[in-house]
Amino acid sequence: MKRAVYCLLFFYCLSCQEKLSVTEEELYRPDIHFTPPKAWMNDPNGMVYYKGVYHLFYQHNPDSSVWGPMHWGHATSKNLIEWQHEPIALFPDSLGTIFSGSAVVDSNNTAGFAKPGETALVAIFTQHDAAGEKEGRSDFQTQGLAYSVDDGKTWIKYDHNPVIKNPGIRDFRDPKVIWYAPQKKWIMSLAAQNKILIYSSPDLKHWTAESSFGENIGAHGGVWECPDLFPMQYEGKTVWVLIVNLNPGAPNKGSGTQYFVGDFDGHRFKAYNDQTLWLDYGPDNYAGVTWSNTGDQKILIGWMSNWMYANQVPTQSWRSAMTIPRELKLVKLGEEWRLTSLPVASLTASGNNTFNKKAIKKVEKIKLSGSTVITFEADATKDFTVTCMNDQQEKIVIAYDPGKKEFSIDRRASGQTAFHPDFAGIHTAPRFHKDRSIKIKIVLDKTSLELFTDDGLTVMTDIFFPSKAYQDCWVDPKEGQITHLSSLQVPIKK
Ligand code: FRU
Repeated sequence: MKRAVYCLLFFYCLSCQEKLSVTEEELYRPDIHFTPPKAWMNDPNGMVYYKGVYHLFYQHNPDSSVWGPMHWGHATSKNLIEWQHEPIALFPDSLGTIFSGSAVVDSNNTAGFAKPGETALVAIFTQHDAAGEKEGRSDFQTQGLAYSVDDGKTWIKYDHNPVIKNPGIRDFRDPKVIWYAPQKKWIMSLAAQNKILIYSSPDLKHWTAESSFGENIGAHGGVWECPDLFPMQYEGKTVWVLIVNLNPGAPNKGSGTQYFVGDFDGHRFKAYNDQTLWLDYGPDNYAGVTWSNTGDQKILIGWMSNWMYANQVPTQSWRSAMTIPRELKLVKLGEEWRLTSLPVASLTASGNNTFNKKAIKKVEKIKLSGSTVITFEADATKDFTVTCMNDQQEKIVIAYDPGKKEFSIDRRASGQTAFHPDFAGIHTAPRFHKDRSIKIKIVLDKTSLELFTDDGLTVMTDIFFPSKAYQDCWVDPKEGQITHLSSLQVPIKK
């Protein structure tokens, strides 16, 4: 008996050692998702495409792995997947720390920041005066500008900030600016507590309040943040989309992203109907907005976390990753408009096919080696599961329930979950498509799963923290059949 206990202890210690010898970096740092080099990150900011380069700025506290005084971190990429870290772009100043915002290419030099021969990139952001907030004031968030005349490398703050003062609204932030060509003016959408305010400007410096949207429409379980108003083309027609992030109040608790589809006349946005639509049903895609200056192509990136537990997730040297950049498309389901999202094409452009099967009728194991994209088609009248796991019995389970017409992701046993009571759970999302065949695309990294169904109609993003990397995914067609099953290994692209 004693010997048996010693034996057990010996093997237990071996497995402890094995766990401890793996660094946080090896175990949790994603391979194909953007993370800051160190310390805290939240919202993506100021995304702008210029001279063949995608710029990504982000909410960053460089001195700590929890939220604090916000700076704009900066990274650049040519393909939206491989990122190069750049020096911090914007630092706090006497007007406050630098909250979320956007950036535009001022091609016509409307603001006058560029000298002859130069083009200015202009960043528009919220300045958060933490001292003013402490004093109990309600006007501590204002909007300011900075510009770059060296293609985004260095940034100079406008010396007459703020360009929009606070009218006395505590939550007054996250300006997203676009050029409205029909009336040759800039349009800003700005989150103000429970609504989106629209402003216009000829020169980015002087702003006129135009209208307000949202008080009696959409989800209102929390504060409205990070809006994005932009036109999309649908069969030769211009249709407007307004993205509104919300915290809390998302379908699976905490932070989430809703959107509205409608018309915009240069002054006012009007939704076609009062439906509440969600861009992503998983808990871990927040504050997403789109790149500016990409023409008709609309690319969104989100912060892959949730304010419920973002400050507690079990990494120490850095915190949080971004989602895979996603291309947005407008589609119609009967009379209803929907926004779909799918990973940008460059994600799989250089992948190696590791598994291909025309059809399976029983459970099939896909070996994981690094980041993987799994695709297949399933019969919508039957249920199926995909279980990704390690040899510690830690797993994350994707399932489809044909009775409820519902997808789910179960991360209750995914690994470390105890750091927050709301982390472990089963998350669900409705299926909207009526087709008999469901198209599935799963993007797996070390600590995240992104599920795209029906060409991006229902999307779910979940993060997880196993004590050992998941080794296999088991695709189980249950009573049905799964076809066109394939797995692609995406080379590490940091
Ligand atoms: C959204 C948000 C924004 C704000 C920023 C602060 O996650 O709360 O509204 O500008 O984060 O870091």
